[in-house]
Amino acid sequence: MIQKYRFGTPFYTGAVVQDIPCETGAPVFGTVEADENGFQYSITMGDKDAVYGLGEAMRGINKRGGVYESYNLDHRFTVEDVLSLYGAHNFLVVDGEQTFGLFFDFPGKLRFDVGFTNPDEILVSAPEANLDLYVISGDTPRDIVRTFRKAIGQSYIPPKWAMGFAQSRWGYEVPEDFRQVADQYRENGIPLDAIYMDIDYMDAYKDFTVDPAKFPDFPGFVQEMQARNVHLVPIIDAAVKIEDGYPVCDEGLEKGYFCTGKDGEPFQTAAWPGPTYLPDVLQPDVRTWFGNWYLSLTEQGIDGFWNDMNEPAVFYTKESMERFRSEMQEFLAKDFQDEGEQSRGDSQWFRVQWAAHKVSGPDNYTQFYHKIDGKPVLHDRVHNLYGAFMTRAAGEALERRYPDTRKLLFSRSSFIGMHRYGGVWTGDNSSIWPHILLNLQQLPGLNMCGFLYAGADLGGFGGDTSRDLLLRWLALGVFTPLMRNHAAKNTRMQECYQFDHPEDFAHVIGVRYRLLPYLYSELVQAALNGDLLFRPLAFDYPDDPIARETADQLMLGDGLMIAPVLTQNASGRMVYLPEPMLLVKFMPDGSLEQTRMDAGIHYISVALNEVPVFIRREHILPLAKPAMSVPELDEEHLELLGWVTREATLTLYRDDGYSRDYSNPAHYTVLRMGGDLS
Ligand code: NOJ
Repeated sequence: MIQKYRFGTPFYTGAVVQDIPCETGAPVFGTVEADENGFQYSITMGDKDAVYGLGEAMRGINKRGGVYESYNLDHRFTVEDVLSLYGAHNFLVVDGEQTFGLFFDFPGKLRFDVGFTNPDEILVSAPEANLDLYVISGDTPRDIVRTFRKAIGQSYIPPKWAMGFAQSRWGYEVPEDFRQVADQYRENGIPLDAIYMDIDYMDAYKDFTVDPAKFPDFPGFVQEMQARNVHLVPIIDAAVKIEDGYPVCDEGLEKGYFCTGKDGEPFQTAAWPGPTYLPDVLQPDVRTWFGNWYLSLTEQGIDGFWNDMNEPAVFYTKESMERFRSEMQEFLAKDFQDEGEQSRGDSQWFRVQWAAHKVSGPDNYTQFYHKIDGKPVLHDRVHNLYGAFMTRAAGEALERRYPDTRKLLFSRSSFIGMHRYGGVWTGDNSSIWPHILLNLQQLPGLNMCGFLYAGADLGGFGGDTSRDLLLRWLALGVFTPLMRNHAAKNTRMQECYQFDHPEDFAHVIGVRYRLLPYLYSELVQAALNGDLLFRPLAFDYPDDPIARETADQLMLGDGLMIAPVLTQNASGRMVYLPEPMLLVKFMPDGSLEQTRMDAGIHYISVALNEVPVFIRREHILPLAKPAMSVPELDEEHLELLGWVTREATLTLYRDDGYSRDYSNPAHYTVLRMGGDLS
């Protein structure tokens, strides 16, 4: 059951699509204080309550003990100390002594204090009391998630090719760079389905342009790559370069489609192209206009996009630059001696650093306005919707133009509701071991909020990766719907063929293709049924105290459990099995090592070039033969693995990989595996 409580006059966020009447009276769980000073929700937790959800937020699978903010930021993140990342995912489930879910449908800044200040209390606060609170009850966390997901609508389903492996790097500039990546992958026998185009393909970082000097025949190049089964996926940034004669800028100005300053004039921010305007994507007409621009690229053969810098990232504004300038001038006016005498806290140098930090910080979000229902609304109040509405603009345009064909679309910034239009990647992580674990821990929270097509930059975005880090990360990435190796400019080259023994990479990535029919089928069915692809062990084994605390393993789909190796210099890891399972190890010679294991704690050895997966008893894992790309997959001849003592079945969803015709019975096949009675 889902109950809705309205406070004040909420903005439209588009998160909930189900028509749910408002309740009167106090919420069934917790207490609310709402007045002109703001909104505060509180509830006391029982000792055994755990808290799940909050999408991509940091800090483990059980969120209890932490404080989190929803206020989307372009942030270089590390572990645990960052309160907000790129998305605002305001849904959580409390489970243990009491079981219920909460969704705060609010587009401004929200603070979740989940037993941080007071270990027994959840406090959720917002600066204004204009929001819808949804309280969801159900028997289990999974039931609650299903009820919530029904309310927010069906998750985005990518085209099948977008579940193949992809290579990306900020810094590929010209066709030769892309050709070289494709060639090297093929020559080393490593599968590949896509290469991403970062901002360097554009003409002066102008959205929807392709640098004609670098790509004199862009459609021809797109076709050439597609003939090799490689899709090119360009990036689109939120901000539009200010330039006379650039049609996106000219049209936006003419129609009054950009966010405005206090004076009502288009507001200037700065990003990669230098001075920019922000399309006011909160207006439906602006969405239609901006979304249609994506079609200028699909007309040239492009069939996927990644939306970036859409928190929106603002490098600086005139105001924030001015503030920084005056701090800096004060510092430069000092003598070396003057500065050195001061204590650290008062140091002008630290004030300069803080001012530098704030140049691109959230203060910028209180300087410009959207137009909502004809009235100006300060961006800060609706901040978390920006990236979601940019992606919605693209998703709607693509669906209007290609009603029968799915395109690839995902975004860095998001809000619940956007999960109907695209997926997410988790932004600028680093090449450090704890970020593999973070990648794993973000998955169930994202799934709860409807984001099924999700993944992290494998190998790490910032910093230099190492061979072992990349291999271990890929052994998690083989299971994540978005499987992309991406790295920042000026980092070590990170393509798999850059490392010794590329055949190890070919093998690990090859496992992805063997699993692909299963993963695709589970993803489509999770989207259609409002279910999770990745679950905390606690969801499946609620009465098992060890499972409840296991935070480095996940349940995947109907029948699998994953437990990747997450640490440096490890030749294996400890794994907890809540029930007997079949351990399958994909060995580098292509063979499978299968071991029946009892419930309990085990050490399993896993070499760098092996991939382990656990199959629950009485469940089936179908495997394809390895393939070099999704179109080359043989989905007809599947090998069935399992430890079954009686007949087990699995409903496999298989289609052409792009149609939206999900109810076609021909797409469903029931696979059966007979029992061996052992
Ligand atoms: C920030 C994105 O998070 C990253 O993936 C991308 O490479 C850079 N922007 C440059 O476009």
